[in-house]
Amino acid sequence: MTFEFNTENQKKVQEILAKYPTERKKSAIMPLLDLAQRQNNNWVSKDVIACVAQITEVPEIKVYEVASFYTMYNLQPVGKYLLQFCKTTPCMLRGIDQIVKDCKTKLGIDMDETTLDGLFTLKEVECLGACVNAPVVQINDDFAEDLTSETFLKIIDDLRSGKAFKVGSQTGRQCSAASN
Ligand code: FES
Repeated sequence: MTFEFNTENQKKVQEILAKYPTERKKSAIMPLLDLAQRQNNNWVSKDVIACVAQITEVPEIKVYEVASFYTMYNLQPVGKYLLQFCKTTPCMLRGIDQIVKDCKTKLGIDMDETTLDGLFTLKEVECLGACVNAPVVQINDDFAEDLTSETFLKIIDDLRSGKAFKVGSQTGRQCSAASN
């Protein structure tokens, strides 16, 4: 199926392209991939790559190289909620492994899998840059921080029942202030 930006996003495409010299259209690959992914149910299909390649006037392989390098682009379909678990040292030391284990058990899936209801996909990533509030899980565009298995499993229950979760620290920590 061919991918095309919708009318609203076509305006945004022009705004993105206008930020770069016309002979440097390829500089727009990353923001265009992000925009396309958001329109395409949060994943970058072959047709998305073809569309971005055509707009930026580069071979498709160049767009694929960018899309496959960064974990922010999903090269497979994902669930409504993409749960990205930080597995780097500070989060490991603060208990992310137990959270991952309990989450897998609760949802009945492994990493890089999606629940049958299409709600949750699990993914392992490197440092999310919020180590001071480890352990951290990114849920779509937002972070859940200072997690325990208990607080994270509660977030899953909330998302399942259509409730929003509390973004940021789950312990009430202000930004990255030292905990009491
Ligand atoms: S180590 Fe997990 S956010 Fe940096």
